[in-house]
Amino acid sequence: NGGHRGNSRLEFTPVQPNTDDQVTVPPGYRQRVVVRWGDPVVPGAPEFDFANQTAEAQEKQFGYNCDYVSFFPIDARRALLWVNHEYTNENLMFAGYTDGSAADPEQIRIAMAAHGGSVVEIERVGNTGEWRLVTRGRRSYNRRITATTPMKLTGPAAGHALLRTEADPSGTRVLGMLNNCGGGTTPWGTVLTAEENFNQYFVGGEGAPEEAKSALRRYGIATSGDTRRGNRRFDRVDERFDLSKHPNEANRFGYIVEIDPFDPHDQPRKRTMLGRFKHEAATVRLTKDKRAAVYMGDDERFDYIYKFVSDKKYRPGSRRHNDGLLDSGTLYVARLTGNSPAEQIDGSGRLPEDGEFDGTGEWIPLCDAKRSYVDGFTVEEVLVHTRLAADRAGATKMDRPEDIEASPATGKVYCALTNNSAREPGQADEANPRAANRYGHVLEITEHRNDSGATTFTWTVVLVCGDPEDPGTYYAGYDKTRVAAISSPDNVTFDKTGNLWISTDGQPGTLGVNDALHVMPVEGRHRGELKTFATVPVGAECCGPFITPDDRTVFIAPQHPGEDGTVDNPTSTWPDGDFPRPSVVAIWHAGGKKVGSA
Ligand code: FEO
Ligand code: CA
Ligand code: CA
Ligand code: CA
Repeated sequence: NGGHRGNSRLEFTPVQPNTDDQVTVPPGYRQRVVVRWGDPVVPGAPEFDFANQTAEAQEKQFGYNCDYVSFFPIDARRALLWVNHEYTNENLMFAGYTDGSAADPEQIRIAMAAHGGSVVEIERVGNTGEWRLVTRGRRSYNRRITATTPMKLTGPAAGHALLRTEADPSGTRVLGMLNNCGGGTTPWGTVLTAEENFNQYFVGGEGAPEEAKSALRRYGIATSGDTRRGNRRFDRVDERFDLSKHPNEANRFGYIVEIDPFDPHDQPRKRTMLGRFKHEAATVRLTKDKRAAVYMGDDERFDYIYKFVSDKKYRPGSRRHNDGLLDSGTLYVARLTGNSPAEQIDGSGRLPEDGEFDGTGEWIPLCDAKRSYVDGFTVEEVLVHTRLAADRAGATKMDRPEDIEASPATGKVYCALTNNSAREPGQADEANPRAANRYGHVLEITEHRNDSGATTFTWTVVLVCGDPEDPGTYYAGYDKTRVAAISSPDNVTFDKTGNLWISTDGQPGTLGVNDALHVMPVEGRHRGELKTFATVPVGAECCGPFITPDDRTVFIAPQHPGEDGTVDNPTSTWPDGDFPRPSVVAIWHAGGKKVGSA
């Protein structure tokens, strides 16, 4: 480990907050779009024709709203990028678009084809940290996954009555994945991609069976009123999205999906053992005895942090063995207990007398592959109605758990809690210490004996976001005159040294500046010295980020640039000066140094 990891200052010159319609990087760095919405991906794909787009073309072209980015080296010069396509902004895709009820059915099919994910081959430019899309040759790995791609449901809940539909009486085969937000990359070379706000694709909840309605509501699906208004209306081209006709279809979304990017014929697997909720992401860390632990957040106000630990050990090189790791194990949910008197947590964000928002925690088991630990729930019910089981288990209600990642240098686990404006002062607790939490915070978890297989941990809030001049902010005790403002932390990653990179989703509405990629040492004297490394275009959130294993490239994925505009009245023209296109961007040091260097 080197002993002094994370101890050094990041020497680059920070980017100043701005509202510019571009990607801005520090002096000495370069940035370029690698791949953008509509780029031909699958061999034979047509060139993008914005005004005459078709679903058939979109199925072969790069999708919309890129989010999670992962990188799989082939050799020193070539690699695969995996990219999630979380959702679509039809207002920016189709001139004159009003809503799904009025949309041309072909527009709905285009939107379905623009969801999902992409595998694209990229190549290094010269000996730099720049990577570009491979546009010629066989590109035999290139692949699009959409809202209609056949997938398997695996694990203990597969085949259960709650997952059976008229089209799939087996309860094991499902078409497509929806709203894939963050993700993770496994040690065995697959990608985990997380279905998040799947609720927004369904209509007809008012006509669902009465006994199904409370669970639908707990997952954010309306069961009364006009459920069609403002919806994308996928049901107009595929009736399974109408819950009055197919009430179980919604139970088949909200999972972690595992995909092998090196096998274009690999059928994606929805891993029921990892539970069903608004999965933000899924990050694997091996336990001391080499089992797979997966950390996961449920991105909803007052929802939970989860962990899965496999029964079996990871076996390097054994693809078949490792393919079963996520189908049996124990699913846990987190309970956090503060160590300061409750009256010292006043909701302002000011520190309690012991100087830290900190405490202890436990991982409460919900079920394993054979046994439920929650009264009134079978294993299958825990895995399909995970939120309800976790409610019963007494988990700690968090401020929207987003991405979670373990430091490669220390093993400590970091969770972004993006914000929660609905938390009342009386609901503030030490792990969620601010009422009306507009700016979010970051939690640092240390597992007992630094083992991801542990069932207890300690924790501290390492960052309470906002304008550092606001007394209700905290940068791990660092001098707040020397840090950048940050709001709405969302996706996190690490460089090899163990510096925490944090992308944001919500700075325009809270700080009045564009979203950004920040970086902060979490060890040593510079712990808490947060600096801004890049800013993204108008209206975009900064997805990604992913840092290559050689630390020479950062990929970011500016998502929904110009989201408040329309085709006729764009608020962003990034990246090409005409209409906004969600894209993946590579950032590298012009002198070939590691990212974060001066
Ligand atoms: Fe899709 Fe929770 O961000
Ligand atoms: Ca404390
Ligand atoms: Ca996210
Ligand atoms: Ca977010």
